[in-house]
Amino acid sequence: MTVLLTGGAGYIGSHVVRLLQQRGEKVIVVDDLSEGIEARVGNAELVKLDLAADGAIDKLTSVFLEHGVQAVVHLAARKKVGESVERPEWYAEQNVGGLKNLLAAMRAAGVDRLVFSSSAATYGVPDSPRVNEDFDCKPINPYGQTKLDGEHLVQAAAVQWGLREVSLRYFNVAGTGWPELVDTQAANLVPIVFQSLEQGVTPRVFGSDYPTPDGTCVRDYVHVLDLAEAHLAAIDYLERDERPFDVFNVGTGVGSSVLEVIREVASVSKTEIVPQIEPRRPGDPAFLAADVSRIDKILGWRAKYDLHEIIKSVWEAQNK
Ligand code: WQD
Repeated sequence: MTVLLTGGAGYIGSHVVRLLQQRGEKVIVVDDLSEGIEARVGNAELVKLDLAADGAIDKLTSVFLEHGVQAVVHLAARKKVGESVERPEWYAEQNVGGLKNLLAAMRAAGVDRLVFSSSAATYGVPDSPRVNEDFDCKPINPYGQTKLDGEHLVQAAAVQWGLREVSLRYFNVAGTGWPELVDTQAANLVPIVFQSLEQGVTPRVFGSDYPTPDGTCVRDYVHVLDLAEAHLAAIDYLERDERPFDVFNVGTGVGSSVLEVIREVASVSKTEIVPQIEPRRPGDPAFLAADVSRIDKILGWRAKYDLHEIIKSVWEAQNK
């Protein structure tokens, strides 16, 4: 099968590229390299393109036809929550506009299978600690809103022209499958704590007065290799005619607190870490973990790695 990956030069995308190639699929990567790193795509063909740019539909259509693309995994998006609050229109243009161009090109070229990278941010601050896909989605930031809009767009395309699609709602992705693919953007807790360790600075804990066991926020940390495997399971699912669902949570179902993550880094790296407790960060739900029964039952996927293995994989990469 020939699979086109948008965002394949990114942290998550490059893991999906490798697993697809290991399985013998032909992979084409489309990435504007604004955040992605070219070296990460290895020997996969790379098309440098901003999906939201003028002319992107025609360019994508010709790439689809030239390579006989049969399925698309759409990962390319802006994903910094804070940045989305400062630049909501740009996030809509990039994330929703880019997806609209991609869908137009897929329809023009007759490519009818899509795995869409969505996010737990679509849930906002749910009124229950563990969420399933039927929960009301009330995103609380423009990033999360663009992901929910994206889900609606791909579902509309399924109704309007027969696109076979699934959306994967990522929970907190971390870890690395290969040292050279480690997340280099210190934009999330795990890489931030490791960066603090490397720089000899104190990691910060945003709030210790939440209604959780140790007062710090709980999240569902899923290994990027597990997440990448979920994309392959989703591609296989799209081959089936009977597909009862089109949205799946991707997580472990296990919640870990900020302090637990920091303690795990201290234990794996055999260093003492005394974090700095700071005020709460606006918009943080106290507890957000995935109900993963649907993806397990329908796709036959479940996470294999736990928090210790996630942290160990980053530590080993840092010390490579
Ligand atoms: C995790 C917890 C922070 C840094 C975001 C996106 C979501 C998804 C995952 C893409 C929070 C706390 C963090 C620090 C801290 N990404 N924290 N000190 O906010 O759960 O989710 O990334 O799909 O869509 O919204 O991830 O890593 O920013 O924070 O205490 O230096 O760690 O307050 O409770 P988040 P995060």
